[in-house]
Amino acid sequence: MKKYFLWGVIASFVVIDPCLIGREFTDSIRSGIPEIVSAKAVAYSSEIPRKVWSEVKPYLIPDNNPLKERLDKICSCIRILESYESLEKAGFNIIYKQLNRGLVVAKHPQLPGYLVKLYLDSCARSEWPLWVLRAKGARIIQGLLNKYNYNKFMKVPVKWIYPLPKKKRPKADSTTFPKDFILLVKDLELCGPEDTLEKLNKSMTFACLKALHKIICMGGLSDSHVGNVPFSKDGRIAFIDTEYVNVWPVHLDWLTKYFSVPNQMHWKSFGACKLTKNVNDVR
Ligand SMILES: Nc1ncnc2c1ncn2[C@@H]1O[C@H](COP(=O)(O)OP(=O)(O)O)[C@@H](O)[C@H]1O
Ligand SMILES: [Mg+2]
Repeated sequence: MKKYFLWGVIASFVVIDPCLIGREFTDSIRSGIPEIVSAKAVAYSSEIPRKVWSEVKPYLIPDNNPLKERLDKICSCIRILESYESLEKAGFNIIYKQLNRGLVVAKHPQLPGYLVKLYLDSCARSEWPLWVLRAKGARIIQGLLNKYNYNKFMKVPVKWIYPLPKKKRPKADSTTFPKDFILLVKDLELCGPEDTLEKLNKSMTFACLKALHKIICMGGLSDSHVGNVPFSKDGRIAFIDTEYVNVWPVHLDWLTKYFSVPNQMHWKSFGACKLTKNVNDVR
């Protein structure tokens, strides 16, 4: 009798509320969460479509990366994307706010050597396609730096997409657009803008100038304005904004005026970029 009663209770749980038999399990079945994600101890929103998981999957931070566990702890306690205040409450130090597009860049003492890039839940733009572009763009640039042996002149940050735990994820409404992913990027320890201008003018060797020209052109780095190619403290040029990669035409003339007069001549003598379409990969 006792046995039948127990089975009855279990069966009613299954019928009444599948959440009670394990949300992570049912979520992974419903949304087709890749194994890499569903194996983790953290539960993700069941509203993330299968297509989104498959797009972000190549760039997801690996489970065995220690920063993943730290982010899980930080992001399970508080909804970090609720406001600037909640970010700060979670221990982040905001270093950049892009006021019209809403991008926020922040540091956290438990993520040394890294930065996070994110959009708050109040921002009405879809974040994950941008993270995919940036993570993919960074890998394409790194591939070119390796191919041409240019790592001595330039660098690009490692970028990982981090999926936020569903805990405390708000419901969408006319002012709330819940996000499911943030971007984790290596902090490239940049020089300040004035220092960069001075170095572009005074420290660019011919070899470095030629390498920069080649990477912008071959990589289709069409957003290479001076703010996106700062110098890093180790003397290399940093490609920090990797959203526009494999996009032509490129705008080599945006940088010309920052070089010394002889280098301006060299820069122009390298010629216009003849590429107009994707030769490396799809964007
Ligand atoms: N990898 C990085 N290392 C150090 N600082 C960075 C890095 N990425 C971004 N930043 C800082 O954040 C700012 C904005 O980043 P960026 O990706 O260029 O945003 P936006 O798309 O608004 O141009 C940069 O100007 C720089 O100060
Ligand atoms: Mg930028």
